[in-house]
Order: sequence, then C-alpha cells, then structure tokens
Amino acid sequence: MRLCFLVEEHYRHDGMPVEVIRQLGSWGHQVDVVRPGGSLLRMSEAVRAGSHDAWVLKTVSGGPGLPLLEAAAAVGLTTVNDVRSIRGVRDKALASAIGRSRGLPVPMTYAAARPELLMEIPESEYPLVVKPADGSSGRAVHLVPSPERLAAMLPVLAGEGMLIAQPYVPNSGIDLKVYCVGGELYATERRSPLHPDQGVRERHVPLPAEVAAIVDQVGAVYGLDLYGVDVLLGPDGPVVVDVNDFPSFRQVPDAAAKVARAVLELARTGSEVAAAAFVPGVSGAGRIPEQPFGGGVPTPGVPAVRSSAAVEGR
Ligand SMILES: Nc1ncnc2c1ncn2[C@@H]1O[C@H](COP(=O)(O)OP(=O)(O)O)[C@@H](O)[C@H]1O
Ligand SMILES: [Mg+2]
Repeated sequence: MRLCFLVEEHYRHDGMPVEVIRQLGSWGHQVDVVRPGGSLLRMSEAVRAGSHDAWVLKTVSGGPGLPLLEAAAAVGLTTVNDVRSIRGVRDKALASAIGRSRGLPVPMTYAAARPELLMEIPESEYPLVVKPADGSSGRAVHLVPSPERLAAMLPVLAGEGMLIAQPYVPNSGIDLKVYCVGGELYATERRSPLHPDQGVRERHVPLPAEVAAIVDQVGAVYGLDLYGVDVLLGPDGPVVVDVNDFPSFRQVPDAAAKVARAVLELARTGSEVAAAAFVPGVSGAGRIPEQPFGGGVPTPGVPAVRSSAAVEGR
C-alpha cells in the first residue's frame, strides 16, 4: 500500500509515529512522510486524488497538519482518523458539547474567548480546572481553587486563546489513559499533571468493564478509530476529561505493530465507525444506547455513570 503520514516536528523523534512508519516499511509498504510544521508547504499542490491509499495524521493541535488532511479528504482520499472526528475532539469546547449532548460522562464545561469572562462562573462551581481549548500534553492546565485565585491568574491565562473551565472532578491523582487500536482497548495508569506529588508509576493496568463500555461509546460518538481517552474515577463513577486522536499508546504491548495493522485495515476498508457517526441527521444514532450514561439528560456537575455492560477479554 501507499501511505502518507503527516508528522509534526513535535513528534519527529517520538517512538509512536516513527516505529509505526518503520514497521509499515518493513512489511513492504511505501510510506511518504510530510512534516507540516517544519516545511514550507505548496498547499495548492499538496493533494492529488488517488495518490495514496490513506493519509494519516499525527500532529499537535493548531498546526497545519489538519488542514492538509482535510484537503486530502476533500479529493476523496481515505484519512486516519476521519477528519470530522479529529475536528470534533481537537477543540475541547466542541468535544464537550458533543460528548455531553450524546450522554457521555463529560464534566459541565464553560468556554470563554477572553479569560476575564471566566470570572462570571458561579462560586459554587469551584474548584475549577482551566485549560486551553486547543491544549495537549498537559500544557497550561490549571487547578483554580477560588475566584480570587482566578483573578490573580488572568494575566497568565491571556494569550492562551479560547479557554475552557470545568468543575474539578475529585480523584486520587491517577489518570486512567485508555487507548483504542484495532477495536481493542488498553489501559495505562499515569499521574495527573494536577497531582505532581502522586507517587504512581506509569503502568499497563486491567480495564474495568464499566470504563471499557464508556470508551467504546466515545469512539462511536466522535467517529474515531485510533484514539485515547483520559478517564478519572470520580465519586460518582468514571468521567471522561479528554479525548485524543492518535495518542501515544504508551505501555500498550506491541503498540507499533498494532497501530500499523490498524492503519492498513482502515486504508483498505475506510472507517465504519466514522460512517455510522456521521449519518446525516442521525449522527451515530445506531450506536448509542437509548439510556445515555448517567441515566438521562446530563445535569450540571459530574453525571453519575451506572453502566455495567460486561466487556470480555479486555
Ligand atoms: N475537570 C477535571 N477535573 C479534574 N482533573 C482534570 C479535569 N480536567 C483535566 N484534569 C486533569 O488534567 C489533565 C490534563 O487535562 P486534559 O484535558 O487531559 O488536557 P491535555 O490535552 O493537555 O492532556 C488530565 O489528564 C487530568 O488529570
Ligand atoms: Mg489529556
């Protein structure tokens, strides 16, 4: 097969895209690599119908990678992930609007184009987590205990672009990072950047069935094939605080081969999950349980999650 990988400078030496590209090459596939963040792009000449079996995006938010991938999709090339799915999660404000409206256990989320607008959030919502809508890798994520503290932080928050704020979900300081590749789920425990004193060592852990069911639904709601979900185990059940297209897959056994196989499969067949999620007018309807997680229309605060669907072999 002929594949084109869009890899941002940030990930230039990262094991994940590099190992996957090497693996595909060793299986005899041709992989062209474009580094949109580090090259002058001949945008108008960049895509050609039929040039590749699939284009794959592994870039940071906000760079020129996604527009290139969208151009590839516009001329009919298969993309991994689907471009609409990537848009849906790269903007955290959009991701929370989609997630909450589709019954996923996502925190109540405010968005503000200017940091001072966050001062209007009622005191009862504190402590807050404030983060850039286009953030990644824990950049500029702040735990804000009080309105006074927020007022003091406004100069720091200026210049981060669109911001979102959510009530802090009480948790042990451990993130459950759940990765989906080839329809299989894998979980890794990692210290939350908001709890730097938590002594947990990053490691692969078993995935509770309740969390697996939620992560499956995340894929269906956003139409993602290769993705990661940051889950916190809050007092009312698991909460989804972040969704990432093409994550690190850290601690996933044999990750490069698994991702390479998944990319080939998607290049061959296209994305069924995206096709189901973007049926006009009934976005993903067939894949969503009638009773959303939490048992109804999401209410402010952190929704309770009571799904106990058994997921075997994960
Ligand atoms: N609402 C929240 N309540 C508690 N902790 C949160 C909340 N949102 C984010 N966090 C913590 O901050 C970390 C980084 O936030 P996240 O939304 O994942 O941003 P990034 O895209 O930078 O990874 C999460 O992994 C989680 O540990
Ligand atoms: Mg995250």
